[in-house]
Amino acid sequence: MTKSIQIALDGPAAAGKSTIAKIVAEQLGYIYIDTGAMYRAITLKALNEGINLSDNEAAGELLAKTAIDLQPSENGQLVFLDQQNVTEAIRSQEVTGSVSEMAAHESVRLQMVKLQQQLAEGRGVVMDGRDIGTDVLPKAELKVFMSASVEERARRRFEENKKRNIHTPLEELQGEIAKRDQMDSEREVSPLRQADDAIYLDTTSLTIREAAAEILRLAGERLS
Ligand code: CDP
Ligand code: CDP
Repeated sequence: MTKSIQIALDGPAAAGKSTIAKIVAEQLGYIYIDTGAMYRAITLKALNEGINLSDNEAAGELLAKTAIDLQPSENGQLVFLDQQNVTEAIRSQEVTGSVSEMAAHESVRLQMVKLQQQLAEGRGVVMDGRDIGTDVLPKAELKVFMSASVEERARRRFEENKKRNIHTPLEELQGEIAKRDQMDSEREVSPLRQADDAIYLDTTSLTIREAAAEILRLAGERLS
């Protein structure tokens, strides 16, 4: 039987994790799991239902009665919240501005980590997020912590937004990214940090193709 491995990609916002993870998963024939989309989905529901985002207990109760599904499609991964397609809706500025508050709750993280571990169980997987190498898949055969300068990450988001006809100024995007990174790194429960056995990959001056090739090379080493 062909051996398959688990690949954990962590890092701050707009480092290129999901873009690279998708390419690597496709090349290896593995599933791709975007854990950020799951935190975004529960945040969207909390906003829609007017739940107090600072209430740990209410956040956990809300998630316990929520179905979040990720499904691959020809146009990338689709995200379903209680059977509704929310793939576009979870990328709104409103969700982006609130997701780190929701993701800081222990009641939310405990359930999410369990769900993500179930999704990955016994299969070849590329999973991206903030706590994959440290908490979700601590035994992953390959862990990569991807980053890039905050200026470059804001520039990338700016270009991506332009294609989607969103025109948030570059300085505003940089501020939003830096604030989210800070909240994600300073929270008490599973903060964003590089796992001790993760490889650091600075993508500031790498193209998408170069970054994907480097991760595929590292995966090839683990597979051989
Ligand atoms: O794509 P982008 O970098 O903007 O963010 P994302 O990966 O969609 O994640 C959105 C937010 O979810 C992050 O800023 C974190 O607050 C949270 N998150 C997390 O706490 N743990 C994860 N494993 C993934 C995301
Ligand atoms: O998942 P994460 O938030 O880390 O980043 P992403 O959504 O994969 O990437 C953010 C944007 O940067 C996307 O539009 C990518 O196409 C772009 N990107 C890039 O220009 N160069 C790279 N080396 C990686 C990503």
